[in-house]
Amino acid sequence: MPRLALVTGGTRGIGLAIAQTLKRDGARVIVCGRQPASLPGLEVMPTDVTDASQLAALAEAAGPVDILVNNVGGSLGGGSFLASSAAQWQGAFALNVMPAVILSQALLPGLRARGWGRVVNIASIWGRESGGGAAYNAAKAAMISLSKSMALEVVADGVLVNCVAPGSVIFPGGGWERRQVADPAGIAKFVEEKLPRGRFGDPQEVAELVAFLASDRASLLAGACIPIDGGQGQSNL
Ligand SMILES: NC(=O)c1ccc[n+]([C@@H]2O[C@H](COP(=O)([O-])OP(=O)(O)OC[C@H]3O[C@@H](n4cnc5c(N)ncnc54)[C@H](OP(=O)(O)O)[C@@H]3O)[C@@H](O)[C@H]2O)c1
Repeated sequence: MPRLALVTGGTRGIGLAIAQTLKRDGARVIVCGRQPASLPGLEVMPTDVTDASQLAALAEAAGPVDILVNNVGGSLGGGSFLASSAAQWQGAFALNVMPAVILSQALLPGLRARGWGRVVNIASIWGRESGGGAAYNAAKAAMISLSKSMALEVVADGVLVNCVAPGSVIFPGGGWERRQVADPAGIAKFVEEKLPRGRFGDPQEVAELVAFLASDRASLLAGACIPIDGGQGQSNL
């Protein structure tokens, strides 16, 4: 029986690359986004993850998930702390953190009962260290903290929870591409000054790490937060 994977926000960008890579590695893969999409080889369940009742319906409809990738998230415009509204903070946590909390609470009992499972939470280097908008940074730091809490509670049952922290990743239709089109010189300067690798990350590079964490090969990793950023992050840890 193939393993069953669920990837939130898996219809585009990093989530889509993760879904396709888990499929390549033999899993049956369900993805969700708000918009319906036709993606060969993947099962799409349109869901707004900020709506708790839709999330509960997704968890129910998905069935016995073995691999959960809490990928959905975004900066929602960013902004400094003093310039940001309470609604922006609520929105950042509703999109980045609460879907991971609600889905993991719904699905982890099944993973534990079956004695094998993998959960991979997608954070950001702006969560391991200061950077990006204030609300996004706090939400991604919460994802890292959440990953550790979850990991410690289920590791003894064969369920391994880890976190991945990408640096800046570009793809057609994504946020960085939009910024590059709007300000090519500014983005070229950003690449030169801030990206030691000399280029953006590609979704596939993140997907390969997630696929490893979701596999039997990652048998002693639990509660880790692994940056994948071509050296962009400044944290020593
Ligand atoms: N790209 C980067 O440079 C970068 C860097 C570090 C971390 N990350 C993190 O990596 C993850 C993926 O980023 P990305 O750049 O690939 O994101 P993206 O381009 O914004 O794609 C987001 C995906 O999530 C879905 N989505 C958005 N809002 C949703 C909602 N309310 N309910 C359900 N699905 C929703 C989108 O589909 P619909 O539009 O159809 O809803 C799409 O499939 C995020 O957690 C992000 O914070 C990204």
